[in-house]
Amino acid sequence: MKRACIIGAGSSGIAGAKVLQERGVPFDCYEKSDRVGGNWVFGNRNGMSSSYSTLHINTSRERMEYSDYPMPKSFPDFPHHTHIAKYFNDYVDHFGFRDKIRFRTGVEHARRREDGVWDVELEGGEKREYDAVAVANGHHWDPRWPEPAFPGHFDGTEMHSHYYTDPEELRGKRVVVLGMGNSAMDIAVDASYVADAVYLGARRGAYIIPKYIAGKPVDQPWQQGRLSARLADPRVPFPVRRKLLEKAVEKQVGSMEDYGLPKPDHRLGEAHPTVSGRILDRIVHGTITPKPNIAELQGDRVAFVDGSVVEADVIVYCTGYKITFPFFDEDLISAPDNDLPLYRRVFHPEIDNVFFLALLQPLGATMPIAEAQAHWVADYLKGEYALPSPDEVHRDIAAERKRMFERYVASKRHTMQIDFDDYMYELGRERRRGADRARTAGYPLPLPGRAGPPVTASADSAVAAAG
Ligand SMILES: Cc1cc2nc3c(=O)[nH]c(=O)nc-3n(C[C@H](O)[C@H](O)[C@H](O)COP(=O)(O)OP(=O)(O)OC[C@H]3O[C@@H](n4cnc5c(N)ncnc54)[C@H](O)[C@@H]3O)c2cc1C
Ligand SMILES: NC(=O)c1ccc[n+]([C@@H]2O[C@H](COP(=O)([O-])OP(=O)(O)OC[C@H]3O[C@@H](n4cnc5c(N)ncnc54)[C@H](OP(=O)(O)O)[C@@H]3O)[C@@H](O)[C@H]2O)c1
Repeated sequence: MKRACIIGAGSSGIAGAKVLQERGVPFDCYEKSDRVGGNWVFGNRNGMSSSYSTLHINTSRERMEYSDYPMPKSFPDFPHHTHIAKYFNDYVDHFGFRDKIRFRTGVEHARRREDGVWDVELEGGEKREYDAVAVANGHHWDPRWPEPAFPGHFDGTEMHSHYYTDPEELRGKRVVVLGMGNSAMDIAVDASYVADAVYLGARRGAYIIPKYIAGKPVDQPWQQGRLSARLADPRVPFPVRRKLLEKAVEKQVGSMEDYGLPKPDHRLGEAHPTVSGRILDRIVHGTITPKPNIAELQGDRVAFVDGSVVEADVIVYCTGYKITFPFFDEDLISAPDNDLPLYRRVFHPEIDNVFFLALLQPLGATMPIAEAQAHWVADYLKGEYALPSPDEVHRDIAAERKRMFERYVASKRHTMQIDFDDYMYELGRERRRGADRARTAGYPLPLPGRAGPPVTASADSAVAAAG
């Protein structure tokens, strides 16, 4: 059996580790931090978490949980980050694979040799060989600042949402929050309780979707009645589902212009969802003032493109993240402008032994997706799944990209969007198709190369041994 290396033990990496263990695929998982959970570990010592003290999930508990490990019913529908971090930690112990994760051990470099084997260099210099690499290093930790930077100079504090940790940082300040994604919503709401003034700047409007519709979590439409249930049915054509959602949001919220927010230049479902149950309330209470985009920084003032100017102490740029893989040589694997074409967001079209877990932006949660993807990778590593021909893979990627870029607003945040239910449904179908192909081909093992011996050292001794 071939040996795999999983990079990262956030919610995606631990899903991968759990599945590979269960499916009998040998692997080692490397984690930079001293614990699992990645982004959900507030103040994570890896410096990569973008959590803040007030963070709650915006995908509901039942949408986010792994298929065979429900979150406790005592958790609220939209739990706090502490609940979520505990849930991931408990998951590892429940399925008993903590010993397969080497903590405080980042992967520094992964190089694919000509014979297909991966030379993996760890923090401290230790080198190991692997037949396959599963990438789960997350994609919400490398801040994307406004590009290009706004003209002028600001005398106050400019920060990216990645570095925001607590509302106290904004107490008594005049704050400009830029962006219409979920970070901007949360941070503007936080600021609205403690700051002297809050301005929410947007270069484009967004539909703000409430966390609850008809008294139930918005992403559990089957709870909202028979008609709404069709929203989660991938067999219902997208235009029909979109119409249903538009009607539900219109009924519940009204139009964005009613709140002084810009009219979105697109239809619902054509941008990553902005979900907030609180921002509209804070706007109508007069604690947040909507603004268009920033035009110029003028010392202690910020000028907006509509000609208005406000005095400000802090600007929080909630302008999204870059997808980066610091451990790959850029000419081998990189995602310029956040774009990395993959077959169904998992398989690299040219490199047959590197896989990506949850490198996507779902209308829905990433955890069950990472888990399903890991099963697909396990099928492949065990010879139980065969990819379609390279031509078909390329055609499929091109068709998927065309659909996505046609549907979504042009933005670096819309390079890997998927619909949760559709994706999971198609993934299941493709696993079955690939199983038939593998059966016909006699279950060939897909990979070249040699496996290294298993890693057995404990985290601390391994770190010490590595110097
Ligand atoms: C503020 C915020 C809120 C969010 N809310 C939601 C939500 O409600 N629902 C949802 O589905 N998604 C949400 N997301 C998306 C988020 O990406 C996922 O929730 C989740 O964290 C993805 O898990 P991951 O394991 O892929 O990445 P991460 O959580 O980022 O974990 C990556 C792990 O890899 C490790 N790592 C990185 N590089 C290396 C290396 N070289 N060597 C070894 N280890 C490495 C890191 O230390 C980390 O532990 C949110 C994102 C943000 C920023
Ligand atoms: N509570 C939660 O669960 C929660 C909280 C925060 C984040 N998240 C998740 O974390 C991920 C990242 O979210 P995010 O909000 O940090 O980033 P994001 O979704 O990428 O949103 C970035 C926002 O900044 C805008 N923007 C980018 N560059 C700009 C520029 N130069 N000038 C003006 N505006 C600019 C974008 O506008 P365009 O649309 O025009 O590009 C967009 O509105 C998402 O998956 C999100 O769902 C979840």
